[in-house]
Amino acid sequence: MTYHIEPDRGLLNDPNGLIWFKDKYYFFHQWNRFDTNHQYKEWGVFTSANMIHWNNQGSAILPDRKLDRDGVYSGSSIEHDGEMYLFYTGNTKNNGERKSYQCISTSKNGQTFIKEERAIETPPEFTEHHRDPKVWRGENNWWMIVGAQTKEQKGAIALYSSCDLLHWKYENILYDERLDNMCECPDLFSIDDETDILVCCPQVRPEQEDDLTEVSSYAAFISGKFDEKAKKFLPKSSLQLLDYGFDFYAPQSFFDPKGRRIMVGWMSRMSENEEYLCPTKQYGYLHCLTLPRVITRENGEIKQKPIEEVKQLRKREQRFTSSQGCFELESGRFELELSRKDCTADFKLFLRNCAVEIHYCSKKNVFSVTRENWVTGKKETKVKQVQSLSQMSIYSDNSSIEIFVNDGECVFSLRYFTEEENLSVKYVGLQQKGELLYFSF
Ligand code: FRU
Repeated sequence: MTYHIEPDRGLLNDPNGLIWFKDKYYFFHQWNRFDTNHQYKEWGVFTSANMIHWNNQGSAILPDRKLDRDGVYSGSSIEHDGEMYLFYTGNTKNNGERKSYQCISTSKNGQTFIKEERAIETPPEFTEHHRDPKVWRGENNWWMIVGAQTKEQKGAIALYSSCDLLHWKYENILYDERLDNMCECPDLFSIDDETDILVCCPQVRPEQEDDLTEVSSYAAFISGKFDEKAKKFLPKSSLQLLDYGFDFYAPQSFFDPKGRRIMVGWMSRMSENEEYLCPTKQYGYLHCLTLPRVITRENGEIKQKPIEEVKQLRKREQRFTSSQGCFELESGRFELELSRKDCTADFKLFLRNCAVEIHYCSKKNVFSVTRENWVTGKKETKVKQVQSLSQMSIYSDNSSIEIFVNDGECVFSLRYFTEEENLSVKYVGLQQKGELLYFSF
């Protein structure tokens, strides 16, 4: 058992087609089951009744026809009339030239997937960097958004509509501000009556396909409103990061039967070198997904909290209340929960013999997370301005860690690598009535 979904072999990347269907959660994902590189892509799938105990069901959709022969790329799913509809990008390459198709597959039982003949071709104003369809039900029709790049090399999100989920019409560009020169994995959902959230992964990529300059990208969101009549997204905020750690990309959300908006990300999109030298490769696999997070809007701010089900994994509890202290973890799998009454004092936490250092600096109102980079051997830090530190929930699985700050005000997701026997934890800055709880796994 672990907190994070990881493949039994090969490389996993984006979460795809997240859905609750006929009494089960389905988390599909990008998968190269043959190797730990990006040369082959299909959809693998995990299923679960509770998002805690997962069954790895192996392959779901394979690159086995002309329109998806060079990769079954990312996409989404929805349920309609008792059937699962899956939308994905079929990637093809002809003498190095890319062509993308938005493809449809349906399933009555979540096990057999039937591919439709029909597929969407890229409209002329876009390049073939056109991918990752996300579909939802609108007032009068179905909507699909696709991550895109205009012929002028500008990032954009393309909007399509359909009345039957099978025939799709390109409408217009939904949104194209500050999306660098390509946008991957868009998502759009309502968070309350007033607000919609547009999720995007803007990307800076070289103009030529054979240019080996590394692509850089990140996951962000914009609050606003989708105007169904104007077919435009009207922003009310600027672009904000979804996660402040080192390793979070290509998130996708879905609405679950408990009425929650849940988001899962890929942990992580490393640099090429980090991926190449990632220590998990010795066990034949790479990458994992984040915990499912519940997304809400509280007092105008977006909050992300781990699903409450994860508490079922708690075993023995140890409670620390002195102002500073140290203790040994039983293993690299652990949950820590901090709560403080005096939220403005400094706080420091050193995990796994300082492999991860967490610091709240009250003078600067800065929360920071430091790790050692496994390629350079150097320490590196990510920061976020926060006004105080009242609460923190931490989930770690040996080499992956998620840090939720102030009841979900911000999250830091990252990978870190240290020796298995490095299990010491040190903390400084628990003032009166504060406590640090350690739950072994
Ligand atoms: C994002 C992404 C998607 C694409 C998939 C391919 O990580 O590049 O745009 O569909 O990965 O694996």
